[in-house]
Amino acid sequence: MTFSDTQASSPILTISAVGKTYGEHQVRALHDVSLVIVKGEFVSLMGASGCGKSTLLNVIAGLDSASSGQILFEGKDVTKLSDEQVTELRAKKIGFIFQFFNLLSTFTVEENVALPLDLAGILSSSERRERVLEILTRVGMAERLKFYPAQLSGGEMQRVAIARALVHKPELIVADEPTGNLDSENGTNVLALLKDLNKTLKQTIVMATHSEEAGAVGDRIVRMKDGLVISDSKN
Ligand SMILES: Nc1ncnc2c1ncn2[C@@H]1O[C@H](COP(=O)(O)OP(=O)(O)OP(=O)(O)O)[C@@H](O)[C@H]1O
Ligand SMILES: [Mg+2]
Repeated sequence: MTFSDTQASSPILTISAVGKTYGEHQVRALHDVSLVIVKGEFVSLMGASGCGKSTLLNVIAGLDSASSGQILFEGKDVTKLSDEQVTELRAKKIGFIFQFFNLLSTFTVEENVALPLDLAGILSSSERRERVLEILTRVGMAERLKFYPAQLSGGEMQRVAIARALVHKPELIVADEPTGNLDSENGTNVLALLKDLNKTLKQTIVMATHSEEAGAVGDRIVRMKDGLVISDSKN
C-alpha cells in the first residue's frame, strides 16, 4: 500500500457499539451499531421502514445524541462534545440532505444556499456570492438564483438542497432518502449528481434509502434490520 492509499483510507467516522433508545416508550431504535466509514466512500444505508436508518444518520450528523457507545469523527469523540461544539462541528464539517428538501420558503435559492456559510461564519460577502454561484453552477441551478423554492420543481429543489449541503465544503455529506420524494427521472438525476460529486470531488457520502436502485449507486451497501447492521458489503 502506498502513502497516498493510506491517506485515502483514513476513517472519517468510527462508530462503536452505538445504541439509541427513544423517550417514554423506550423504543430501541439502534442496538450496538459498529461501523467504520473511510474518506471518499459512498455508503448506502438500506433496510425496511423503521429499521433505524434515519436515527443512525441523525446521530452521525449530531442532530440527535446516542444513548450509548462512541462516535469518532476524524478521530475526535463527538459523544463527549458540548452542544455548542457539536453545532460547530456540524456547521463546519457536515452537509445534510433531507427527503423533503427543507428549503426555507421565504429565502431565495441564493439565500438558501448561502445559509451554511453564514452559520459557519466564513467568507466575505463577495466570496460568499462567488461560492454560491460556483456550487449552483455545479448542480445546474445557476439560472435560478433569485427564485423562491415554491417556483421550482421537486427535482430542482433537491438540487438546490444538495448545493446547500455542499457549499461549505463539508468533510461528510449525510443524505436521508434524497430521492424519496422525487419521480424516477429526477431521482435518477439526483443520484447521478451525488455519484459525480463522490467521484470527482472524492466527497464522502452516507445515504439512507429504501430503494435497491438508489442504493446500487453507492460503492458499499450496509443493510440494517431492527436497529442492527445485518450485512456490509462492497458493491
Ligand atoms: N422521536 C422518536 N420517538 C420515539 N420513537 C422514535 C422516534 N424516532 C424514531 N423512532 C422509532 O425508532 C425506530 C427507527 O426509526 P427511523 O426513523 O430511524 O427508521 P427508518 O429506517 O429511517 O425508517 P423509514 O425508512 O421509514 O424512514 C422506529 O421504530 C421509530 O418508530
Ligand atoms: Mg427514515
